[in-house]
Order: sequence, then C-alpha cells, then structure tokens
Amino acid sequence: IINRELLAWYDLNQKLMPWRKNTNPYRVWISEVMLQQTQVATVIPYYKRWMDNFPTIDRVALSDIDQILKLWEGLGYYQRAHNIKNACDIIMKNFNGKIPLTEELKSLPGVGEYIYAAVMSIAFNQKIPVIDGNVKRVASRLWEMNFLKAKDIKILTEKLLTEISSKRPGCFNQALMDLGREICKPKIPKCTECPISSQCQAFMNNTIAIFPQKAKKKVIPLIDVVVGYIEDQENNFIITKRPKKKMLGGLWELPGGKREKGESLKNSLIRELKEELSIDITVNQKIGMIQHAYSHMRIKLHGYKCKIKNGKIKMNVADDLEWIQFRNIGNYSFPRANHKLFKKIERN
Ligand code: ADE
Repeated sequence: IINRELLAWYDLNQKLMPWRKNTNPYRVWISEVMLQQTQVATVIPYYKRWMDNFPTIDRVALSDIDQILKLWEGLGYYQRAHNIKNACDIIMKNFNGKIPLTEELKSLPGVGEYIYAAVMSIAFNQKIPVIDGNVKRVASRLWEMNFLKAKDIKILTEKLLTEISSKRPGCFNQALMDLGREICKPKIPKCTECPISSQCQAFMNNTIAIFPQKAKKKVIPLIDVVVGYIEDQENNFIITKRPKKKMLGGLWELPGGKREKGESLKNSLIRELKEELSIDITVNQKIGMIQHAYSHMRIKLHGYKCKIKNGKIKMNVADDLEWIQFRNIGNYSFPRANHKLFKKIERN
C-alpha cells in the first residue's frame, strides 16, 4: 500500500500551483482541461488570465467565443475552449449554474473519464482514481505491468481503487501525477528520491528501463501548406475565420490550403484561393516558410504576398472574412503557426 508514503511525500513536496489555492469545482475543472494536453509551466499564465477574466461560470456563459479563443490563443487544442464555453452555457441553462457532482458531469462537452475523475476527486472528495500518462507510467513500474489497451485500463482502475486514500482521494491523485512528472520520469527517473521505491517492483528487479513498454511510434505526415498575404492598395490584407467544427475552429488565418501531390506551391495557392474565395490572384514575392508540429501532422507553412487579379470575393469555406492592417493582428486570435509567419513579415 503506497497511500501513506505518497501523501507524506506530497505534503512536503507538492508544487504550488494557482489552482491548488482552493478546490472550488469550477477552478479545478478549468485547470484540468488546460492540463490535460499541456504542461504545467505553460498552463500557469493561461490559467491566471482565465480566472482574472472569467472568475465564474456565468462570466464564461456571458462572453462570446472570440473573446475566449483570444485568451486561449497559443495554448493549442482549441476544441477545449469551445467545449468549456458550451459546457458553461449548459450549466447555466440546465444545472442552475452549478457543476453537477454526479455522473451527469460526464454529459458535458469535453468531460471524459479523466476530467470526471479529477473534478470528482479533487473538488468533491470522491474516491475515483485519475489516470493520465504520468499515472500510467508510475503504475507500470510499481507493478511491472503495461496499461495499453482499454481492458488494461480497467485493471489499472481496479488496482488504484484498492490504493486510493479514502480521506484525501484528490491529493492521492495529484500526488501520483506529481510523482510521475517530477520523480518517475520517462527517461531518467529519480528513484533515490522516490517515496515508494521500496514497493516498486521495477526498481527492485532493475526493470525500470523496460517499463512501461513503449507503444509503436506513429508515422506523422509532413504536409506543405501555402497561404496568401493578399493586400489591397492601402496595405489592408485578408484574414479568414476557420469553420467552427474544423481543427483550429474559430481562429483566424491567412487564406490558403494544402499542396496536392505534384502541384507547385504557387499553383496550390492559386487553386485554393479560387476554391475558397472565388478570386484569381497573382502570386508575388515569398514571405518565408516556417515549420510547425501538431499531434497528428507536421506542416511546412509557406507564405506569399499576393494581389487580387480578378473576381469578387465569395466566402465558400470560411465563417468570416476581414481586411485588416498588420498593426491590428493582436485583435484577432491566430494559430501559433500563423504567428510564426507574421514574425517573418514583421522582419521584412
Ligand atoms: N496534471 C494534470 N492535473 C494535475 C494536477 N491536478 N496535479 C498535478 N499534475 C497534474
């Protein structure tokens, strides 16, 4: 049983994080959504800004998604922001403005097993184990087991249920996550500092290096994306808003798209702008190229200065379109890759 040693370690070593100041369910929920796909250090400033701007659920419900996306800009996985907004609307409408502390919590957009377990244990003191990548790695070494498939996760849940503290389930869960992040690291774990090494099978059998078993690496495609910086006579340029339901939904971008096999960069841009905006363009000098990695693909993003040659703009794909001045880009939220390209324009 690891519970005593783990909590004692946590009480001495837990990191101060803004969401640990109090365990109001709304604060716990927002922090866990941010943390689910992003590192603690990155999340902290976003979390603070979020709570300054949206201290309560009704403030989220009253704001519009553009304002929320502006705050989320750069944090990635923007669907999370849409989910929070939609969930807050639902909470105001159907749950009297209070986060439901039952299974109904899972009916809210974006609330899966992880968020459910985190909120229920940390904010509502329920004995529900949280399972994330850190917890899986700790458990894998502790018991010399691998937790890859759904049925393994069920076994892991059962095993953690026999371990989790009855008095402080939320602290137990957070302690395991902290332990995974700070001590039981993937590559060079600090076993000499680990409070539960004397119970760790992999430590005792010297098998730390082979647990957890690595999943096969996915091949991540590399894609060329070409966008146009389309200017008019007064140096206004076009930005378009991505459709809500798509990846990076609700964010603004320079219009363009993916290069197809065998196509030149310039021809892809000409084709894309015809398809998306019904315009013919002349492609002028190259702004530059930047690289960016998403979870499922890497892109090379190429930018070209362009002028409209022919045609009346029609929005065939985008949710919105504006002509703006470069100095005003801060008023809109753009994907990180787009900002990297803007940096190149700034330098020219
Ligand atoms: N990672 C995600 N949520 C966490 C939490 N509440 N404490 C520590 N690490 C975390």
